[in-house]
Amino acid sequence: MTSEFAVELRDVVKKFITPEGNELNAVDHVTMQIRNGEFFSMLGSSGCGKTTSLRMIAGFEWPTEGEVYIEGKAMGHTPPFQRKVNTVFQSYALFQHMTVAQNIAFGLEMEGAKEHEIKQRVGRALEMVQLTGMERRRPKQLSGGQQQRVAVARALVKTPDVLLLDEPLGALDLKLRKEMQLELKALQQQLGITFIYVTHDQEEALTMSDRIAVMSKGRVQQLATPVEIYERPVNRFVADFIGESNFLEGKIKSISKDEAVVFVPALNAELRGMPMSQGFVNGEEVAISVRPEKIRIAENNAKGEGLFNAKVLTSVYIGSDTHVYVDMGGIRLKVMEQNRISRLDPSSFYTKDQVIALLFMPENTLVLKKD
Ligand SMILES: Nc1ncnc2c1ncn2[C@@H]1O[C@H](COP(=O)(O)OP(=O)(O)OP(=O)(O)O)[C@@H](O)[C@H]1O
Ligand SMILES: [Mg+2]
Repeated sequence: MTSEFAVELRDVVKKFITPEGNELNAVDHVTMQIRNGEFFSMLGSSGCGKTTSLRMIAGFEWPTEGEVYIEGKAMGHTPPFQRKVNTVFQSYALFQHMTVAQNIAFGLEMEGAKEHEIKQRVGRALEMVQLTGMERRRPKQLSGGQQQRVAVARALVKTPDVLLLDEPLGALDLKLRKEMQLELKALQQQLGITFIYVTHDQEEALTMSDRIAVMSKGRVQQLATPVEIYERPVNRFVADFIGESNFLEGKIKSISKDEAVVFVPALNAELRGMPMSQGFVNGEEVAISVRPEKIRIAENNAKGEGLFNAKVLTSVYIGSDTHVYVDMGGIRLKVMEQNRISRLDPSSFYTKDQVIALLFMPENTLVLKKD
């Protein structure tokens, strides 16, 4: 390998002129470095520029500004077939009139590979996706997940260094999607090739990725590991988009490198928390984020720092957990508690209008730029 990075985007902009005559920055100064052998995801809601970014890596689109590098080489206007990447599209686009084996062999035949070599490579690709024995079937005679695997085999048969996957599991039902997530991840680890994976499903991205770029409106909001993105979101957008968050508003009372004291008007009290970015100043208006599972319901009559009374609005028992919705100083919060003890006694559950004490611990109280 000539470069530490399989793929690099440096300050890439892609402008489109829409049919309505407006100029749109579909990708807006995106920089990312994707390491060799990494499972890298681009995550964001519809229209945030994921497919456009992927198409620029594949060579189906060219940047308006900036540059795409593959293995350290600037791609310029290099056409797709000369890039060592292969794409699995959302609609698998299998040829319906061809068998599984013919579908997978198609690209190799186009390249003029020899017959015995094609046979060997198709056999290996089928093995990788666990479809050996199904080579004579047509796409219609396969399940959705099996068709998906044919699409992956068709991309893998050309032995790319980088596989680009654009929402490849979008058409599958939830159970199959979860199975395929684990399968694809295992395949990537086994082959050691770089996967660049596009999804709008945050759970999918958290499950599969080594690192994730969270995107919004053509920009990368945060690029980090799943744990960092969930536990240390850099702004309110990321905290809101990944998982669930309760938000409180307040003003910085004092600030140091690892602690922010925030006055929260709704509580008429101060909360201590962790600053999630630099450059906060005293008096600045901020957002505080606390995840539902990180708010503790304290013992009755508990008193002390970080404890606040709240009134139960509703309590929902969902088996593994209880979700308690509370009102705290006019703010609605969600609190999640694991049901660690098996019990049927109705008095042990929370009831409407009951007053409970919530414990906010500074390490779970994230202080974010308001945006
Ligand atoms: N050829 C084009 N001409 C004009 N606008 C385009 C073109 N392709 C994409 N866009 C616009 O660019 C923006 C980004 O589109 P893109 O397909 O990259 O989004 P996405 O993140 O993949 O979304 P989704 O999750 O819905 O697939 C959208 O606003 C889209 O309407
Ligand atoms: Mg897309």
